[in-house]
Order: sequence, then structure tokens, then C-alpha cells
Amino acid sequence: MITVSNLGLTYGSQKLFDRVDLQFVAGNCYGIIGANGAGKSTFLKLISGEIESTSGHVSIGADVRMSVLKQDQEMFNDYSVLETVLMGNAPLYQCGKEKDAIYEKEDFSDEDGLRAAELEEQFAELGGWEAESEISQMLQGLGIPIALHEKQMGELEGRQKVKVLLAQALFGRPDIVLLDEPTNNLDIDSVVWLEDFLLDYEGTVLVVAHDRYFLNTVCTHIVDIDFGKIKLYVGNYDFWHDSSQLMQKLMRDQNRKTEDKIQDLQEFIRRFSANKSKSRQATSRKKLLEKLTIEEMPASSRRYPWVGFKPEREVGKDILFVTEVSKTIDGVKLLDNISFILGKGDKVAFIGENENAISALFQLLAEELEPDAGEIKWGVTTSRAYFPRDNAAFFQDDINLVDWMRQFSEDKRESFVRQFLGRMLFAGDDVYKKVTVLSGGEKVRCMLSRMMLSGANVLLLDQPTNHLDMESIAALNNGLEAFPGNILFTTHDHQLIQTVANRIIEITAEGQLIDRKMTYDEYVAQRRQNEAAN
Ligand SMILES: Nc1ncnc2c1ncn2[C@@H]1O[C@H](COP(=O)(O)OP(=O)(O)O)[C@@H](O)[C@H]1O
Ligand SMILES: [Mg+2]
Repeated sequence: MITVSNLGLTYGSQKLFDRVDLQFVAGNCYGIIGANGAGKSTFLKLISGEIESTSGHVSIGADVRMSVLKQDQEMFNDYSVLETVLMGNAPLYQCGKEKDAIYEKEDFSDEDGLRAAELEEQFAELGGWEAESEISQMLQGLGIPIALHEKQMGELEGRQKVKVLLAQALFGRPDIVLLDEPTNNLDIDSVVWLEDFLLDYEGTVLVVAHDRYFLNTVCTHIVDIDFGKIKLYVGNYDFWHDSSQLMQKLMRDQNRKTEDKIQDLQEFIRRFSANKSKSRQATSRKKLLEKLTIEEMPASSRRYPWVGFKPEREVGKDILFVTEVSKTIDGVKLLDNISFILGKGDKVAFIGENENAISALFQLLAEELEPDAGEIKWGVTTSRAYFPRDNAAFFQDDINLVDWMRQFSEDKRESFVRQFLGRMLFAGDDVYKKVTVLSGGEKVRCMLSRMMLSGANVLLLDQPTNHLDMESIAALNNGLEAFPGNILFTTHDHQLIQTVANRIIEITAEGQLIDRKMTYDEYVAQRRQNEAAN
């Protein structure tokens, strides 16, 4: 068990949080969430003891083994993959080392013999004999093939190193595991492996993640860092999200009522305090007024945008025909003779290892590229809005957000285009910012505002969730779920695919299609079954 008492941390004049009292118990998985810079990584460092708090303390039982997912990928470059993982279990690693050193001695004394026997016993108790096969299995589960296990870490690619470090953190079943954004850079299969591992795990897990699906699958609790406080909620991410929204709404409603009441009282006092016959009542109302307080609504660092797409007209029967299309770019065959027909109500998620092939298909569908062979035909009733993966071309001009939006609107009034910017949280003077200075996430929000304005009945979205925070992804998710037209999209966000798509098209490494009318979870389950059967 981890007990956090009266914990506070201040960097210079920046107070990250204070007076935090929490307990973390074995068997639970705590998902740590919060806006960028809220202090998630810092909180984990306080727990692991890497940094000291400004006030209060963290206590962890004696004999408790804690492991931390290492962030420095280059730290183990001179060790083999197997040894790197083995180091995750420090007592076992030390024991093995000492044992080997004794056996390597030339003059082996009686004392050495006794010590070696002791170490042998300890080694067996710590599971030393099974360690190698256990490690091998973990690595394979994470997609690191046996051929790489004896290699030096320095020889691996960045994405592979991340997986080995994850295996290191989990190896030997520590009592407490701290994982800071483990799902970044992991492919879907590895994320599924990690989910399975954590679901079976008996220790305490504290994990920072931005992936809503992952948080919903593995977390028993949510730890929210916001308002300069850290609060613990029972339940998974969706449950936290819904209940925290409700709490905020209740508080706002209550405040509104209180404000109305205050106005009434003030009005009464103003009118009647000079009036003798009513002056007693006015005085008592004054007292009441003094007691009424507006609950301090803490300033959240989170902001919730609103996304919604309204088609101007309904699509007819013929929507899209893709017939025997091929495309080669820079000598690489990305699409090889692919065909599909889009039906009414189809919401298609495109998946596959090769993101360039998916982007090429989107560019073809948006008629920005021509196929080398074959034909793409859109129905006459369709109108399309396209969200490209790379939006740099849209943000070259040195103009402000209002003028930028105006380019895409028939109605040129500022008040009109500002509505669409406002929904994506560009308000006040923000709208006069130059588009050239926008951050990645802000540009994505502009592009989504532009799509909302379009009135299109077919949406083409190539990686719309990159750079977006969880609140914006959730808003986009709601907007797409509610959209009555057709959607063709690709994203890394599992939940978005699962809740929006009713058809999955995978583009294989060979540039061909696997086309299934089912949900993403059904598709993943089917693929795992097929793999198990082979
Ligand atoms: N050593 C430090 N000195 C001063 N400020 C720091 C230090 N480490 C982190 N910060 C600041 O503390 C805040 C929280 O950082 P961090 O915990 O990394 O946030 P996140 O929630 O994104 O993981 C950020 O504003 C960061 O700039
Ligand atoms: Mg962080």
C-alpha cells in the first residue's frame, strides 16, 4: 500500500498541487489523468522518490518492490535485451551476478562453497531458473522476436527499446508498478498485450495515459490532477468523465440560482430600506444576503469544445464507387487494384500498418491525387469535407483566425464565422491570433471548425486525433457518432473507431483490402482467433 499524506509540490511560484491525501491499494489500477503540464509525471516521480515534495510525504511499506518504466531509452544500450529485462528484478539480478562471480573464481574456498549454496537457494526461490523463459515469453507477447533477445539494446529501434523497457518494468511481478505513458508508441497488438497483463496483475498499478479505451479497459480508479488538486475517483475513465461533467453542471446551476436570489434580495433592499414600514424586512434580508455565497468554481485547466457536423442535404443511393484502383508513389506500390462500394450509413475506419497507403487513398478520395489505374466515382448527391493528415498548406498565410475561417464560408459576417471558432474554444482575443503561430492541436481545431462549416454529407478524416487532448477527442467522438451521413476515417484512438465505425477496411502491406462489416473489437477478436489457429 502507498500512503500519500498532505503532499504538496511547488516549483518556484508555480504550485502544482497541495494538501493531497490518498491511498493506493494492491489489486487496483489507478489511471492518472490531467491536462498537459498538470503534474502527472511529477506526481509519479514523487511516489518513486526520484524527487522530493515541498510538503507532506509518501510512505510505502517495507519490503515492497516498486518498479518504474524507464523513460531514458538509451540507458541500457550496452546490455543485451535479456539482461536489460532481467535487471527489472534487482534482487534476482544481483543474486545471479554474485553467484556467477563466485563460480568464475580460480581458487574456490570452502567459504565460497557455502556462499554459493546459499545463493543457489535464493536464486531458485526468486524464480531464477524460470526467469529466462518468462522473459522470452513477455518479449514475444510484445512483438520482440526471439532473434533479437541476445542482441544489444543499442542495436534495436526506438519503438523496440520502449517495449523492452516495458518488459523490464513488469518482469518479476513487482508489488508496485509506475508507468508514465506506456501506450505511446505501442502498436495495437502490444497495447492489447499490456491490457491483458495489467488485468491479471495483483499488485498496485499507477499509470499515466491519454488513451481512453486503455483507461476504460484496465483502470479500477481514476486519479485526476486538476484545479491544483489531486482527486481519486472509483471507476474507469468514462465513469469519471460523466460524473465530473455532472458535478460541474450541478455546481453551475446552484451558482446561477444563488446569483438570482442575490439579485432579488439586493433589489428588495434597494427599494425598501428607505421605507419605514418595510425597513425591518430589508434589514433581515441584508443579513440573509451576507450569508449567501457563490461556491468558488475552481479554475479548471480542462476545456470542453463542442463538435457537430450538419449535412445540408441527405445523400442519395449512389455514394462512392472505387473500382480497381492502383497507386504507386516514389516507387512503392501503396494500393494494388482495390475496389469497394460505399453504402448508405457506412462509417468506415481504415486501418493498417502502412499509414502512407491510407493517406494516399484519402488523397485519391479527396481528388487531390489521380489513380495510376482504375476509377473513383462519387455520387452526384454527395458533398465532401476532407481533413488531411498534413495540414501545413492551410496555414501559410499571415492572417488571423477570423479571416482564415472566412475563406471557407459563404456568410462572411464575423459573428457567423466566430460561432464555429467558438465551438472549438477560440474565443475573445484568441480569434485575432495569426494562424501561423498556432500549435499543432490548435491547427487541428481550426480544421475541424472548417469541416463543421462545410455542410458536407460525407466526411473524410485522415488522423484527426493527432495532437488533440482527451477532451477534444471526446468532443470529436460525440460529433462523429451523431453525424447522419457517411464517414471515412483513420485514427489511433481505439474508442473512436469502436464507437463510430460499422465497417473496417484494412489495407495490407501488399496494398490490398480486407473489408468487413463489423465493429473494431469484433475485427480485432477475429484476427486474434485467426492468428491463434495458425
Ligand atoms: N524540475 C522542474 N523545475 C521547474 N518546473 C518543472 C520541473 N519539472 C516540471 N516542471 C513543471 O511542472 C509542470 C508539470 O510537469 P509534468 O509533471 O511533467 O506535467 P505532465 O502532467 O504533463 O506530466 C510543468 O509546468 C513543468 O514545466
Ligand atoms: Mg508527463
